[in-house]
Order: sequence, then C-alpha cells, then structure tokens
Amino acid sequence: MTPQNGEKDPKEHIDVLLKERRLYKPSAAFQKKAHIAGHARLQALRKKAARSPERFWAEAARELRWIKPWKRTLDWKPPFARWFVGGKLNVSVNCLDRHLDGPRRNKAAIIWEGEPGETRTLTYQQLHGEVCRFANVLKGLGVRSGDRVAIYMPMVPEAAVAMLACARIGAAHSVIFAGFSSDALRDRINDAQAKAVVTADGLYRRGSVLKLKEAVDAAVESCPSVRSVVVLRRTGTEVSWRQGRDLWWHEAMAAAAAQCPPAALDSEHPLFILYTSGSTGKPKGVLHTMGGYLTQVALTTKWIFDLKDEDVFWCTADVGWVTGHSYVVYGPLANGATTLMYEGGPLHPAPDRFWSMVARHRVSVFYTAPTAIRTFMRLGDEWPAKHDLSSLRLLGSVGEPINPEAWLWYHDNIGGGRCPIVDTWWQTETGAVMISPLPGATSAKPGSATLPLPGIEADVVDRQGRPVPPGHGGYLVVKKPWPSMLRTIYGDPKRYEQQYFSQIPGIYFTGDGARRDKDGYFWILGRIDDVLNVSGHRLSTMEIESALVSHPAVAESAVVGRPDEIHGQAVTAFVTLKGGRAPSPALAEELREHVGKTIGAIAKPKDIRFTEGLPKTRSGKIMRRLLREIAAGQGVKGDVTTLEDLGVLSKLQAEDEE
Ligand code: WTA
Repeated sequence: MTPQNGEKDPKEHIDVLLKERRLYKPSAAFQKKAHIAGHARLQALRKKAARSPERFWAEAARELRWIKPWKRTLDWKPPFARWFVGGKLNVSVNCLDRHLDGPRRNKAAIIWEGEPGETRTLTYQQLHGEVCRFANVLKGLGVRSGDRVAIYMPMVPEAAVAMLACARIGAAHSVIFAGFSSDALRDRINDAQAKAVVTADGLYRRGSVLKLKEAVDAAVESCPSVRSVVVLRRTGTEVSWRQGRDLWWHEAMAAAAAQCPPAALDSEHPLFILYTSGSTGKPKGVLHTMGGYLTQVALTTKWIFDLKDEDVFWCTADVGWVTGHSYVVYGPLANGATTLMYEGGPLHPAPDRFWSMVARHRVSVFYTAPTAIRTFMRLGDEWPAKHDLSSLRLLGSVGEPINPEAWLWYHDNIGGGRCPIVDTWWQTETGAVMISPLPGATSAKPGSATLPLPGIEADVVDRQGRPVPPGHGGYLVVKKPWPSMLRTIYGDPKRYEQQYFSQIPGIYFTGDGARRDKDGYFWILGRIDDVLNVSGHRLSTMEIESALVSHPAVAESAVVGRPDEIHGQAVTAFVTLKGGRAPSPALAEELREHVGKTIGAIAKPKDIRFTEGLPKTRSGKIMRRLLREIAAGQGVKGDVTTLEDLGVLSKLQAEDEE
C-alpha cells in the first residue's frame, strides 16, 4: 500500500504548505487564563508523561469520581488493553451527580435549539432527573447491565438522556446516525443484538420531516432480539403502532421514578458500541469501555477546549458519530460544562443559522468540521458578518484535513483574528483526541494537527515500522496503548487484531497517511485504505459497491473517491451493467437512490459512470489507483448515457498494482 498523497507528494499540496508557513502563537491574553499555559509548561507535561504514560493517565483518572479505586493502571497484552483494572465507577455519576453538590446544580448542562427555532435548557439537576427516570424505564423493559440498546434519534436532549441512562445501568448503547437507512439500522441492531430501540416519530431536517419510526418499524421486522421500541414524540408525524412492543417516551417517563441508584461498574465494562466503516464491507462495531474512555475524553475536553464554567461549548457534530459522543455529551458533561445541541441543518432557514445561534447563545467555544467551514467560505463572508461573534474565544476543527485556505478563513471571518484554532486529529477507534494543539501553549500552523498530546506516542513510519525522516510520507501509528482506545470490534476480536495490529505487530495502525515536518509537527494526508472521507464521515468503498451490486441491473462496480472542494472527497461509482440493460440518466438516479436506501443518503455516489468493463490486473484485481486518477482527472461529464470502456485501459497500463 502506498499512502495516496504520501510517498509521492502531489506538487500542489507541497506548494500550499510552503506558502503557509506562518506560526500562530497563542496570545498573551489567551495564555493568561488557559488551563495549560505556555509552551514550556506543555513541554514539561510531555516529558513527564513520556517517562511514565501510566502515571500520567492515572493522575488524569483521579480527576473522576471512582466508587472503588483501581489496582493496576494498565494491563497490556497486545493488542488487548485494560485500563484502571479492578476500579469501579459510574459514568453518569461523573457526568451528573457529582455536579449536584455545588453551584453547578442549577447550571445549564444542555442548551438545545430545534430546527424550527424553539429552545430548551436542562440544568444539571433536571438532566439528572430525566436520566434517572429513563434508566428506570429501561429497567422496566427488562434491560439489564451488559445488554445493548440501540438509539436512533434526532439531535434532541433525549438522545443524550438515553445514552446516559444506559451508562447509569450498565447497558451499552449503540447510537445509529438517524441519516442511516432502515437496512443499515437493521444490520447494526442485529450485530449488537439490541434488546430495545429508542427512537422518535420523526426529525426535522432542512424544513422537512424524516420519518424515523417508519424506518425502525421496517428494520425491527427482521430483528428478533428487539423486545421494545420507545418512541419520542417530536414532529407529531403519524406512526403505526405495535401493541406490546412500542411505547411512548412521555407516557413511560410519567410513570417512572426519578431516583435510580447508579450501578457500580467495572472500569472495563462496555459503555458503547459505535459502528464505523472499514475497508471491508461489513461495518465494524467499535467497542469502548467506561473508565479509560471517560478519563481521556474528560481530560482532552478540558485541555483542548480549555473549558471554564462560564463557557458555552458548541460541538456541531451529530450524536450519531463519535464526535457527538465524546464532545457533545460525555466530555462537556464530565467537566460540568454547558453544551449546546442543535437539531437541524446548518443552512436552514438561511446560511447564517450557525452564526445567528453563536450570537444568540453567546457561544464561546465552537467545534466543527472542515466541510462545514468550506461550505460557509463559499457562501460568502457576508453571512457571518451579519452577526455579533464576539463571544467566541476558541475554534476547533475535526474530521478531515483542514486546508490552509479554510483554516485562514475560519480564523479571520469566524474567529475575528483573535481565536486560536485547535485542529484535532482522532478517530472513532481512538475515542478521544490524540493529536492537537493546546490553545494556550502550542503555536499553530494552518493545516497541521501539530503534536500528539502528552501521554500519546504517535509516529510516522514505513512499512517495516521504522520512523521516516522529516518531510517524508508514511503511515500514522500509535505505539503505546492509550486509555480511550477501542477495546475490540464487537464480537470479532480476530478482526480487531487483524485490522489494527497486524500491519506492524503490536503497534496500532490508524489507516491514515501522515508526514512530520522538521519541528515534529504532524500533517495528516488522509486515508490510505479503501475508506472514503466524505464531509468528515467515513464510508467504505466496499459497502457502497455491495449496495450497487445488489441492484438487479448492476453486474459489477468499483467505487473510488475523487477530490471535492467542499466535501473533501466525493463518491465516484464505476458501474458495469448486466446484459440487456442500457445506461440512462434515469438508471443513474435509480442507482443513487438505491444506495441511499441501502446505506443512507450520505453514501449516495455523486458520479455514476457506466463502463463496458473495469480495468483489472492479470490476477483480476480492480486497478483502483487508475480509477482514482480517472475519477479525479475528468470530473463528471454530465452525460451518463454513454458507455465508457475502461476495461481496455488495463491492457495499456503497466501492471504495477499486482
Ligand atoms: C480523519 C472522527 C485530518 C482521519 C473524529 C481519521 C482527520 C478519520 C482529522 C476518522 C484531522 C479526523 N485532520 N484528518 N484533524 N480528524 N480525520 O472515525 O482520516 O469518523 O482516520 O472520527 O477522519 O474519522 P472518524
């Protein structure tokens, strides 16, 4: 495998890097108040952590409330880690109960805004009550410690309530992004054997209603493990009802007690499963556990977002993704912070929705994805300029490499030139941020996630695991276990080992290419496997290919990414049709819809290109690199009625992919 942009650096990429060499130092004013202030202090922390990462993490873990202290900080039998072994805690207690003893009791835990414009605020006390009540609802449904609960919900406070209620009783939640189709939901419910599903009648998205309960009904038909479906009334959409299985959220909550003693759970007890795309077809159930996850999520939230009691923190991610888990729900609440949740589309009803919200809620720390930033950049400076963004003091970015142009636009137009930007690199698998500036201590370079956090040993290596010299591309790896690392792939420890620890034995393989510069700064170059990153969301080319092939007209397909100015990558599907089927715009649209139905709208190919044959090596492997070049080079012709013959290309190409 060759890093796509690694060993062979495309020229223009280097040019941009050279152009943008400026260092952005944290201002004296920012440093003065920061949790971690100054380069020297950070260096000292790094040194100390490098001497003994375990001691460093143990100190971080002691910031949490434990029911029983741990006996051993780390038990590492590669590739399996256990952190804070023997310790017991409850994650919901750490996010809620422990804030009830002091002035945070009546502080806003969640400020929520619905897409139609209504707002709600839940104080820590109120959120605690809701969580306890819902924990009792789950118990009443027979959900026990060790069970799994699927959550398929809009961005509403009840999604967080359901997650925390699961954590309170020790049931692992599996949140499935509400944009996923009913088929995708079914597969995820079945893989985790969920006992209950929590959903809503519908959700608002760009002014229209998406019927969630309908998707659940269709999925659950083929999910024998599901006994109950709890339905939140959100849109008032009519729903069909299965007596004995379905119950309304509000009715169940009205009947539930507001006290629920927290379970004392082992540090290594499962907290959640989150499905993510890998390079093979089937989504992987990434498993995270209690103590280690919360330790690193809490620490990174505090340090990277420099959270203070008076902050309003807005992470725009959906709870269906890991960013929503770690930095909408668990991280902010573990810190007793105020987290803002928004239900709807960023451009609804107008392109200034985000900026109007920042102004109205006086948001001080804002965390979003490069795709969103590039979209706003294209829409024009006038939209943010209409609003008072002076409450902002810190900005963040996650999900894909942020190009220096977008970084600078974000810095000037949203941050008013005064806010530091934290470009945070991490993954569903890492659970929490791994590489990022600390805003009061690190000098930023636009486009670089800068340096690993104290306690994290990341490197860029070659195929043999040897560090590559500065300026050279290689594989991004993590050499030592960290507390919030995934523990396994749910139900498939072999795949866990094979996927992450076999390329270089004993060392965690991220699947990303990267380069370090002479200052040691990390520049992430993107995925090196068959995983696409569309709008900061990971999609597997294989998964989209199997969706396409499941359509009766399709004989074969190959899916690749091509660079896209706004979304990072766009999905291009090369399709060969079965005998007797002819290409047409209608068929292309039908195939796009088919992928939408099978996986979800985010996976719909942007381009469908019909071809007589696919270019293959002598041994029959599809020449993906060639297809990537074709996809990138020619763009969409718009005319989908012609049949290309890419098969012949293989005869002309050197067979270097074998
Ligand atoms: C990419 C999202 C460059 C990377 C938290 C990674 C990034 C994948 C950055 C994980 C960043 C995330 N710079 N690339 N700051 N952050 N990525 O699992 O390719 O949805 O492997 O987790 O996103 O995506 P995931």
